[in-house]
Amino acid sequence: MCGIVGAIAERNITAILVEGLKRLEYRGYDSAGVAVFTNDGDLDRRRRVGKVAGLDQALAEQPLAGRLGIAHTRWATHGAPSEHNAHPHFSGDQLAVVHNGIIENYEALREQLKGLGYVFTSDTDTEVIVHLLHHKLKTDTDLADALKSAVAELHGAYGLAVISASQPDRLLAARSGSPLVIGLGLGENFLASDQLALRQVTDRFIYLEEGDIAEIRRDSVQIWDQQGCAVQREQVQYHEGAEAADKGEYRHFMLKEIHEQPKVVQRTLEGRLGTDHVLVNAFGPRAAELFAKVRNVQIVACGTSYHAGMVARYWLEDLAGIPCQIEVASEFRYRKVVVQPDTLFVTISQSGETADTLAALRNAKELGYLTSLAICNVGTSSLVRESDLTLLTQAGPEIGVASTKAFTTQLVGLMLLTLSLGQVRGTLDAGVEAHLVEELRRLPTRLGEALAMDKTVEKVAELFAEKHHTLFLGRGAQYPVAMEGSLKLKEISYIHAEAYPAGELKHGPLALVDSDMPVVTVAPNNELVEKLKSNLQEVRARGGELIVFADREAGIDNGVGTHVVAMPHIDDSLAPILYTIPLQLLSYYVAVLKGTDVDQPRNLAKSVTVE
Ligand code: G6P
Repeated sequence: MCGIVGAIAERNITAILVEGLKRLEYRGYDSAGVAVFTNDGDLDRRRRVGKVAGLDQALAEQPLAGRLGIAHTRWATHGAPSEHNAHPHFSGDQLAVVHNGIIENYEALREQLKGLGYVFTSDTDTEVIVHLLHHKLKTDTDLADALKSAVAELHGAYGLAVISASQPDRLLAARSGSPLVIGLGLGENFLASDQLALRQVTDRFIYLEEGDIAEIRRDSVQIWDQQGCAVQREQVQYHEGAEAADKGEYRHFMLKEIHEQPKVVQRTLEGRLGTDHVLVNAFGPRAAELFAKVRNVQIVACGTSYHAGMVARYWLEDLAGIPCQIEVASEFRYRKVVVQPDTLFVTISQSGETADTLAALRNAKELGYLTSLAICNVGTSSLVRESDLTLLTQAGPEIGVASTKAFTTQLVGLMLLTLSLGQVRGTLDAGVEAHLVEELRRLPTRLGEALAMDKTVEKVAELFAEKHHTLFLGRGAQYPVAMEGSLKLKEISYIHAEAYPAGELKHGPLALVDSDMPVVTVAPNNELVEKLKSNLQEVRARGGELIVFADREAGIDNGVGTHVVAMPHIDDSLAPILYTIPLQLLSYYVAVLKGTDVDQPRNLAKSVTVE
C-alpha cells in the first residue's frame, strides 16, 4: 500500500528518499515519485509508473539534488496507475504534497476549488489537499497554520507530508487514520509511513498519534495534537537488527520467512510458558482479572489473520469451552452487532494498521464489549496502542506480501489465549494444559521437521504448473488451514483455488472435479480421518488427482492419482500450525515454476491502510 518518505537535512537527500521508497516496496504499489526543493531554489519532481527502479533510472537521467524533499509509492484508489496520478502532487510551483489514505469528501472539495480557479491535473483525491492548502495559505501565511486549517476540512483518512518552496526550512506532516513516524537524526530529520524506510539513517523515532500535526525542521520537531495544543511525544529507540530487510541466502523473502518459522515461534513462546501452564500476564497485568469475567469471544480480522481467527474458534470452543464468533473486519464494521454480555473483543493483525480491523476496534469500543485484545506483530502500531490488552507475536518484520510466519505466530498467540482463558475460568483441565504446554515447547522442532520436506514439496509443485483450478479440503480445524493454503496459492501463483470443508464436497464442488483439477488435502491422524478418507474416495472415483499431506499413521497410501506426503506426528490441537508449512511451500514452489513475482504479487499490498 502507499508509502511516504520525507527528509530535511544539510546534505542532498534524494538518495535517502529513494532508498526509503525501496525499503517500502514490499508493501505493494504501482507508481512512485519524488519532489525536492532543489539547490536552485525550485520545487521539482520526477514520477514514474512501475517499480522504484524506474524512478531511480529517471533520476539517473535527470538528477534532482536538494536538502528538503518528499517521496511516495502509490497504490491506486482514485484514478488509474499513471504518471499524472502519481504523487507528489503540486499546486502551482510552490507547494507539494504526498498522501496515504482516502479523502472521502474529495468530490465536493474539488468542485469548490475548481470554482476558485484551481486546475486539476490528476484524477486523485490527493490533489484537492494540495490546492486546498494553497488556498488556505492566502490567508494563513504560516505553513503549519494553513495545514491545520486545511485538514479540518478533510473527511476520511490521511497521512500527509507537505513541502513549500516559500518556506523551505520545514517539512510538515499530518496524521489521521494513516500512520506516520518521524526519524530523528543529528542536524537532520526524517518522516515516513513506516520506520523500516528510515532505518538506514536513524534508530530514534517519534510516532505521531491520531490528529497530530508536526513541523519538522533540521534541528527541531514541533507537534500539535488534535485540539491544536503543543505536545511532546515520546522518543523510541529501535533495537532490532536491520537483517530483516535482507534476503540472505534465500531467493525470495517469502522462502526466507517460511524457514524462519521455528525460530520466530520459539520467540513468540519465550517468557510466556511456566513449567506446566501458560503465564496469563503475558497478555498484560490486568489480563487474569479480565479473562476471569469472559463468557464469550468475538474475533475480527482480515485476510490471513482472519484464517488464524477461524482456527482459534475451534480451539476456544473445544479446549476452553468458550463460545466464539469470528468475522471479517470489513463486514463486522458495517453491520449492527448484538453484543453478548462479557464478551472479549479480539483483533488479529500482522501490521496493526489494517484500516478495516482498526475501524472495527474503534466501533467495538462504543458497543459495550468487556475489553479489547490485539494479537499483533508490530508493537508500535495503532491497533496495539488502541487496545486494552496486547499479545505481540515475535515474527519480526515480514516483507513478503503473502503472510507466512506472521500466521503461524498468530496461531501460537491464539493457543496461548485459549489456554489462558481455560486456565483462569477453570474450564480447562490442568493436565490437558500441562500436556499442551509441553507440546508447544516441542513445536519449533516439529516445524523444523516439516521444513525438511522442502524438496519433496518442490517436486509435488510440478503437478500444478499447468493447472488453472485447484480445490483445498480440510475438516475441523484443518478447514481454515485449507482456506489459508488456497489463499496462498491464489495470491502468488494466480491459480484459481477454493477451499471447502471436505464434508461439503458432495454439495456442489464435486461437479468440478476431473483430472485437470488437483485436490489438496491435509490429513492429521484424528477422529475425522476416516470420514476424510471417504471424501478422498469421492474425488478419486471422478478421476481427480489427490495431493494429501497425511500423518504417517493415518493409513493413507500412495497410489494411482494419489500423491501422499508423510507428515511428522503431532498432537491434534497443534496440527493446524504444522500442516500450514507444506501448504506454504507448495504455493511458493508453484509460483516459482510459474515465474510470478513471489514477494510482490500483482494488485496486492502488504498493509492495507485504506478501506
Ligand atoms: C493484506 C495482506 C495479507 C494480510 C491482510 C491483513 O491483504 O496482503 O497478507 O493477511 O492484509 O493484514 P494484517 O496486517 O491486518 O494482518
